[in-house]
Amino acid sequence: MKIDKNVENDGVIFMSIKENDERAQETGSEGDVTILAIESSCDETAAAVVRNGREVLSNIISSQIALHTIYGGVVPEIASRKHVEKINGCIRAALDDAGVTLDDIDAVAVTYGPGLVGALLVGVSAAKAISFAKNKPLIGVHHIEGHISANFIENKELEPPFVCLVVSGGHSHLVVVKDYGEYDIIGQTRDDAAGEAFDKVARAIGLGYPGGPKIDKAAREGNPDAFSFPQAKIADAEYDFSFSGLKSAVLNIINQAKMQGQELSQADVAASFQKAVVEVLAGHAIRACKEYGMDKLAIAGGVASNTSLRELLEKECAKNGIRFYRPSPVLCTDNAAMIGAAAYFEYKKGVRFGLDMNAVPNLPLGDRERRYHGRSSR
Ligand code: KG4
Ligand code: ZN
Repeated sequence: MKIDKNVENDGVIFMSIKENDERAQETGSEGDVTILAIESSCDETAAAVVRNGREVLSNIISSQIALHTIYGGVVPEIASRKHVEKINGCIRAALDDAGVTLDDIDAVAVTYGPGLVGALLVGVSAAKAISFAKNKPLIGVHHIEGHISANFIENKELEPPFVCLVVSGGHSHLVVVKDYGEYDIIGQTRDDAAGEAFDKVARAIGLGYPGGPKIDKAAREGNPDAFSFPQAKIADAEYDFSFSGLKSAVLNIINQAKMQGQELSQADVAASFQKAVVEVLAGHAIRACKEYGMDKLAIAGGVASNTSLRELLEKECAKNGIRFYRPSPVLCTDNAAMIGAAAYFEYKKGVRFGLDMNAVPNLPLGDRERRYHGRSSR
């Protein structure tokens, strides 16, 4: 994976990501399906051109993270306005990098939920405009289905069924991927998402936003056994997660130290907190593979780029005879290539959205909402 990075005048980071895979640069053949995909659900404006669900011809990400850092989190209004400024440039760059025009694409795909409504609407409007102007089929993609599908890009042989641990800023799900686009949710968080817990704890210990990568880095210098933080078990739902108790335990330790005038080691708190999260995530995922008789485990979402989680799962999978799939870190966090991958399998099933497609900020995973959009005259 080769990443060209450029910091623009407004602080937005523009990235063009290229696969090292030479096959991706080969010219297409008859029957290929080339999809232009768009993602704008949070603070990344992204566009990509993906062939046959697994070959990324271009992958452009315009990241606003630096703009939101001073506020300690994503400011929805700023995010929407930046998406409006950046979206056309991202789409143009994605087409140019792939060496195609809008006439060459077979469909346009876009994340239509879940996410920030104002942010989603920018991508949805752009995709609808292209679909209408160029008379191309339109496909709405669930953001989390996109994250799961990131695994198909670098693992050309990966096919369902498999277990997937989806851990992002807004979601923590353990799912059985029964088939392309078909999921059984077997566990989810009762309160904070895993990424949200990383972000909140990072803020509390003074590491700032975005918390996940900062805790990941700080933890490398710390002792994971310095503090013993709780790992919640939920009695009636063994695959569900809960991170709010853990977050409160970290806050208590910080307050206690303050009252006693003691200096806490940021690195030790980060390492101990991370250990508690990662052990729960890995424990649930491995148990699910065993119980459901699956010998393949994939991970997805921003938290899936966590070094410690990847190392622990690699070890546990090897021990238990499970094949472990994890996207490169840049495909774990938000991008449009994953949306193009998910869209391909929908396209093949004949799913087509109408121009009445709308952003759905709280779209549940596995929701059959696409049924209502799924008929189009195109
Ligand atoms: O998937 P994503 O990019 O956006 C959402 O769909 O939410 O995930 C972002 C989340 C943030 O909470 C961020 O702190 C977390 O993923 N994250 C990490 C790491 N990199 C990003 N968490 C732990 N370790 C990391 N290395
Ligand atoms: Zn995401």
